[in-house]
Amino acid sequence: MLVPEFQTSPGMRDILPPESARWRRFVEVFAQVSEAAGYGQVISPLLEDLGVFQRIGDATDVVTKEMYDFVDKGGRHIALRPELTASVCRAFVQHRPLTPWKVWYTGSQFRYEKPQRGRYRQFDQVGIEVLGADDPYLDVEIMALGWQFFRALGLSQVTLLLNSLGEPADRARYVHALQAYFEANLSSLSEASKVTLQKNPLRVLDSKRPEDAPLIAAAPRIAEFYSPLAAAHFEAVQAGLTALGIPFTIDPKLVRGLDYYRHTTFEYTGGTLESAQNALGGGGRYDGLVESLGGPSTPGVGFALGLDRTLIACDDEGVFAPPVTDVDVFVVDTTGGLQALQITDQLRAAGISADRAFENRSMKSQMKVADRSGAAWAVIVGSNELEAGEVVVRPMRTGDAHDSTQSGQTTILRTDLLEYLQKAMS
Ligand code: HAM
Repeated sequence: MLVPEFQTSPGMRDILPPESARWRRFVEVFAQVSEAAGYGQVISPLLEDLGVFQRIGDATDVVTKEMYDFVDKGGRHIALRPELTASVCRAFVQHRPLTPWKVWYTGSQFRYEKPQRGRYRQFDQVGIEVLGADDPYLDVEIMALGWQFFRALGLSQVTLLLNSLGEPADRARYVHALQAYFEANLSSLSEASKVTLQKNPLRVLDSKRPEDAPLIAAAPRIAEFYSPLAAAHFEAVQAGLTALGIPFTIDPKLVRGLDYYRHTTFEYTGGTLESAQNALGGGGRYDGLVESLGGPSTPGVGFALGLDRTLIACDDEGVFAPPVTDVDVFVVDTTGGLQALQITDQLRAAGISADRAFENRSMKSQMKVADRSGAAWAVIVGSNELEAGEVVVRPMRTGDAHDSTQSGQTTILRTDLLEYLQKAMS
């Protein structure tokens, strides 16, 4: 096949039917789980002032290297959103809703990353955020909702990793200790991790390079730096998860890629995915973010799940197939097409899904399309039927479509069609 002149940019994809129906169903299931727990949907713009995302922190690649940004015609420095947490906090500061503000969202995010399976430059997330409630059981509630959602999809190979980064002062003391530790052992650190150390010592813990592993394994642990308040918060979170019977693994190296976290951090990993892209989703507490965007001191907690990646995990586990979107009726009209135009219109208006063939093709070719459509019924109009004011109704899902030719088919008055089909379907 000739290579077309225009194709999607690297890391960007077209989602075609029937896969697109699966995406929509994914979001519907997430909406059901969230709305049943009192969360309302927030829809915010794809573009924000660059500054909104810069407040996430300047030690994260998402902000410093991966952002799509440009100056618009009005001279504003704009960014395509790389995530939604900062946008939700910006919306909170702008609209000041009553707290606790419990919201869910879905949409595309943009990060200029190296594309590979499960890592794209445009990818979709679903997520939830709660602003204005400082309660460890809220951290548990959102983790439980994510857990419920994976169950609703049918995914079973999901692990919940949990950590706490403590209060900001604990985190700062820990970062200081980590820096001192890695600097004292600099010669054993990979070149890439030496660079990371200069920017963000916490992220060295994320290194997957084998040469860094021994040093990371013996590094100071965040738990040694928790204040009594941070320790109590973390214990309550663990007790809540245990009370709900949700299994979790404490991972002291789980620092996450964004800088705004304090206290709880967590990630859901998929058992079938490669380790560099096995995070199906993640989140945590970010109590200072609203304030840094100009709002009042407001606690916040939330998570986001990657839609693209979670669907790969569904494929690997053979669960959550695309929903069937076949129409109920296919109209075959060999008299010029006007009958098909009217019948499909009448059926659709009555809530019966219907499709038809175009270009006045032969009966044989139209029946082929009818077979392919997956319709339960074919309604056939030839010149004899047209003259007699009748239609033929043929059941199509009788096993072998080709053998369904004449079996079970009936000729009825055109004026009785709607009632006949409504009865047959009920
Ligand atoms: P994140 O860990 O950057 O967190 O992204 C969440 C999920 O989005 C990841 O676990 C992954 O499934 C998916 N994801 C991220 N980057 C890509 C990519 N390039 N291609 C495909 N999927 C990707 C956040 O975005 C935070 N806003 C989560 C949060 C909400 N924290 C608190 N509230």
